[in-house]
Amino acid sequence: MLEQLKELRLKALNELSRVGELEELESWRIHNLGKRSKLTQVLRSLASLPLEERKKTGALANEVKLALESGLVEKEKSLKETYLASFLGQKGLDITLPGRPIPVGRLHPITQALEEICNVFTRMGFQVTEGPDVEWDYYNFEALNIPPDHPARDMFATLWIDSTETTEKARLLRTHTSPMQIRIMEKERPPIRVIVPGRAYRYEATDVTHESMFYQVEGLAIDTNITLADLKGTLFEFCHGIFGKERKIRFRCDYFPFVEPGVEVAIECLNCHGAGCRLCSHSGWLEILGAGMVHPDVLRRVNIDPEIYSGFAFGMGVERIPMLRYGIDDIRLFYGNELRFLKQF
Ligand code: DAH
Repeated sequence: MLEQLKELRLKALNELSRVGELEELESWRIHNLGKRSKLTQVLRSLASLPLEERKKTGALANEVKLALESGLVEKEKSLKETYLASFLGQKGLDITLPGRPIPVGRLHPITQALEEICNVFTRMGFQVTEGPDVEWDYYNFEALNIPPDHPARDMFATLWIDSTETTEKARLLRTHTSPMQIRIMEKERPPIRVIVPGRAYRYEATDVTHESMFYQVEGLAIDTNITLADLKGTLFEFCHGIFGKERKIRFRCDYFPFVEPGVEVAIECLNCHGAGCRLCSHSGWLEILGAGMVHPDVLRRVNIDPEIYSGFAFGMGVERIPMLRYGIDDIRLFYGNELRFLKQF
């Protein structure tokens, strides 16, 4: 029996040294250490042996078992190492290569423009506030001197929320940020200096210069002794801050029901520098905002006495600014979620 065990060990270890694959190693294990292996049979038969013999044989059988088991573990380790090394070599996996870049997000070009506009005004002492996108007819129209039959309603193709109501209780998606003028003046007493960045909506077919959702920044300043000169100075400061000190600015009359007088500000075309081109419809000028002195009726409606106080308001489109600056020819690109476009800013 002892001789048999020694021979078994010799043979098994010999075979093991010739094993070159992991699958082969598994059959070696089943053959030499499995339930039906000779070694297992010997171990099972121990019980039936006389005591002396059982001791000797048992000791040796255990020794053989341990030797085979540790041989197996070592072989498995070395086979795996060789496999890994050859895999790395073959597949050309170069672990010294730098890792894949992690994509970095950035601010949307409109967010950047909004921040820039707000910065120019906060430097001049304006505060920043926001208001609701869903608005009452009262704030969007009525309180701004645009009663139900007023022709100025045609300027604003409105997206209504309560389509059946046509009274001042009807809700809509605000067509401009001007309703915030009223909300602010209802709550605050002069002196007031605020700007309101936010979304506005219009029921319009989209094209290269129109979106049904777009951004505006509204401004409002109310105090004693505020004149048109203050409005002009503030807006010139803004235009110079955003478009550069050299740019020519045009300041002229316009009409909006909630201001008197109303003005319109245009800058010298960035493309042709005033000579006339397609971008400026051959006028040499680009309109960038509407403004004016807050109408006395508007002030009275929020219980601010126009005999004591006066003020100015302005409202501008935001998309126009990065469009002019970067030569973007389609407003819809901003909201198309095309990363190749957005990544450039
Ligand atoms: N809300 C106007 C628009 O969307 C722009 C505007 C004009 C705003 C004159 C003003 C203003 O505050 O005084 O067309």
